[in-house]
Amino acid sequence: FPISIPPPACLLQPFEVPHRHMFGPGPSDVPPRVLAAGARPIIGHMHKEMFEIMDHIKKGIQYAFQTQNNMTIAVSGSGHTAMECAIFNTVEPGESVLMAVNGIWGERASEIAERIGAKVNTITAAPGSFLTNEVIEEALAKHKPVIFFLTHGESSSGVIHPIDGIGDLCLKHNCLFLVDAVASLGGAPLYMDKQGIDIMYTGSQKALNSPPGTAPISFSERACKKMFNRKTKPVSYFLDMTWLANYWGCDGKPARMYHHTGPVSGFFSLRESLAILSEMGLEDSWRRHKEVAEHLHKGLEDLGLKLFVDDKNARLPTVTTIVVPGGYDWKEIVAYAMKHHQIEISGGLGPSAGKVLRVGLMGCNSSKANADMVLAALGDALKSCHKSKV
Ligand code: GLV
Repeated sequence: FPISIPPPACLLQPFEVPHRHMFGPGPSDVPPRVLAAGARPIIGHMHKEMFEIMDHIKKGIQYAFQTQNNMTIAVSGSGHTAMECAIFNTVEPGESVLMAVNGIWGERASEIAERIGAKVNTITAAPGSFLTNEVIEEALAKHKPVIFFLTHGESSSGVIHPIDGIGDLCLKHNCLFLVDAVASLGGAPLYMDKQGIDIMYTGSQKALNSPPGTAPISFSERACKKMFNRKTKPVSYFLDMTWLANYWGCDGKPARMYHHTGPVSGFFSLRESLAILSEMGLEDSWRRHKEVAEHLHKGLEDLGLKLFVDDKNARLPTVTTIVVPGGYDWKEIVAYAMKHHQIEISGGLGPSAGKVLRVGLMGCNSSKANADMVLAALGDALKSCHKSKV
């Protein structure tokens, strides 16, 4: 037959991508060195050189997570994929789980667990606040969950949740401690082993400054014992850790088998991001994020803006939430920053939607100069956006 659908005219033109300052909650800017790593020639996902690069990634994740866990890999996909990987592999239908909900990520984790038929119990704190260890322990004793999920950096509310002591509580109540560190890893202190975290994951596109599409995850011995002794197969073939452990050379078997085609270029970039973090040092990165966040917070208050998180110690250093100033339309402020300053900032998400503006300064974006750019854009927006419109 002659073809009846012609080539699309749009594809016969070159495409353009504008240069933007990615100062929202992610993805963040990718530095040239990481972009260049991703632009290297493709090799096979099963070539020995690729396996060596994956081994280096594993070591980089162990450093970034501060863990000696052998079961440490990067999932092919975004932070959401890692969230599903964690829950799908460690929870079986009918099992009780406990989710801390103080923003959108606890809600998402609850829905994912519900979809596989788990008995989902939640403990909630208002967005902008966090849960005490007493409340957590009471719920662990009551619901006897197999996992307790907590978001360390709640990017929707801008809260960094305290972690100390929770790992011990989970151990005492025979439950695995699962931590979402997508928005905090690399930007705030986290010590997977010392803090008794059993499963932790992050995304490549936040403080690691890699393109979206790869998600580091690590499992403790206790987590491995549970997930490799299940009665039922995990619902997802793609995310089955029996396969992924083999693909990443973590199962002690002599040969790696084909499972899926990993994102080769994404792994090159992730390798380079982890190299940059290793060269800089975690402590320096944590310190810089804290200093820059404090600088930004002071500047925002000087502009007359109010931070959404009252408790200074609970403010996430990577993503700052600002109360939408009275009488303004948040969408207008966000659009103004984009149009006149080429800066991406964002509105709220889930429970904070319509209530906050969000500024993310993560990884290489975390500098006082960038904070000043955001402050100048917001100062301009406050003068130029019309209060009367709301
Ligand atoms: C995504 O991670 C967001 O916080 O918007």
